[in-house]
Amino acid sequence: MISFPGREEVIRRVYDHGQERIFDFWNEISDSEKLRLLDDVESIDFTLLERLFRQAEQGSPPPMGFEPAPYIPLAGEEEGGAEFREARERGRELISEGAVAAFVVAGGQGSRLGFDGPKGLFSAGPVSGKSLFQIHAEQIRKSSEKFGVRIPWLIMTSHSNHDQTVRFLEDNSRFGLDAADVYVFPQGMIPSLDLEGKLILETPSSIFKNPDGHGGSLGALAGSGTLHAMRERGIRIISYFQVDNPLVSIIDPLFIGFHSLRKADISSKGLMKAYPEERIGVFVRFDNGAIGVVEYSDLPEELQKQRDERGRLRYRMGSIAIHLFGVDYLESITGGTDLSLPFHAARKKIGSHTANGIREIDGYKFEKFVFDALPLTERNIVLETKREEEFAPIKNPSGVDSVESAQGLMDARARRWLRERGIDVPPSTAVVEISPLLALEPGDIPASLRVPDRKRVNLEPDKD
Ligand code: UTP
Repeated sequence: MISFPGREEVIRRVYDHGQERIFDFWNEISDSEKLRLLDDVESIDFTLLERLFRQAEQGSPPPMGFEPAPYIPLAGEEEGGAEFREARERGRELISEGAVAAFVVAGGQGSRLGFDGPKGLFSAGPVSGKSLFQIHAEQIRKSSEKFGVRIPWLIMTSHSNHDQTVRFLEDNSRFGLDAADVYVFPQGMIPSLDLEGKLILETPSSIFKNPDGHGGSLGALAGSGTLHAMRERGIRIISYFQVDNPLVSIIDPLFIGFHSLRKADISSKGLMKAYPEERIGVFVRFDNGAIGVVEYSDLPEELQKQRDERGRLRYRMGSIAIHLFGVDYLESITGGTDLSLPFHAARKKIGSHTANGIREIDGYKFEKFVFDALPLTERNIVLETKREEEFAPIKNPSGVDSVESAQGLMDARARRWLRERGIDVPPSTAVVEISPLLALEPGDIPASLRVPDRKRVNLEPDKD
């Protein structure tokens, strides 16, 4: 057994749990590296990892019985929209009172996209080349201007992209947002395991860990003190979204208003699945009455294809990871400490340090999912939204859900908004982009605006 003065207890624990392979390079590392490794190990919950490993090997248990979840349909607006009008009004009031904060989760590793750096730095603007962070920041700025209020922007990073994210935001002066309104904090990390349940070395003196999933965001919000800071600022609702959707409507009066009118703890946006096999989770109501999400991989094929009497998919409301969380509610479930959502295991390739350098091995990464928080409350609603208006995820370098498809959707939405305002787009214009600083909805576009006759047009507000 290896030894290090004063650290006998943690070393013993490693051997007791059969994890001594992490000391394979002990004789090659310096004393400070030894200490770093032991510090790294000190925080590991071996019992939790053993349980997660058993779970990973057995596969996840089938979800509880469920039926399709109820939702507020878009059609409701046309069929007598009194509640819609009231919701929009209520939402505007809440935003103007300064009760709403924006929260982006940006701690993911973006492995499918293969972009070297935090995804928020990825260039998404079809003409401007603006990064995802800039697009989001400008939306928040515009909402702040429209409602005459300072809207805080919370950004969750992970240890591997935190510094780069902070530097990027600072180098760009937070795209015009005040430093006092931007809160950046990292999420938790959890060790990955190899297929024998052993810890993996990333370097000779550090353990391989991965960010603990978007579900780690609620615990990180509380644990970092940001939830408390929001309470102090008078924030009552936190608007949660993912970094890789440039079409997201971050501060949406209608959504916020329904959340408030229906006295919800959590609200979610959903959209009609495009086809049965579409790889998005669906909203369900579990047998115990709680609304939640069942992942596409857990929805049996026969249920995926089931149709109702009107020929629509029965499980048609897909989740797009847009939620509102009540601050009161978040405080009640986090209790000022970490929130315990379940971990899910995924088999992935992991770079393991060996005597011959880094080798790709198969292993398990563990992650929490934010939608597991949904069934924790019965005050939980789903509002249908339009896919073409609000959903353009950038997940892959090409094809489905890629920057190409997202930019196509951004262009199409810009043209639709201009059309709605009666503004012509010259036939020679191939791509149009509308800056969030110009408009967050068609009504924001000045009626006097003329689209210049150019191939690629980025519409920004006049600088005067
Ligand atoms: P995805 O599940 O698409 O993961 O994240 P990803 O890391 O971005 O991409 P892949 O799967 O490696 O290709 C959805 C959202 O959740 C955030 C991501 O940053 C993205 O906004 N996320 C994901 C976190 O903040 N932390 C995590 O641990 C995982």
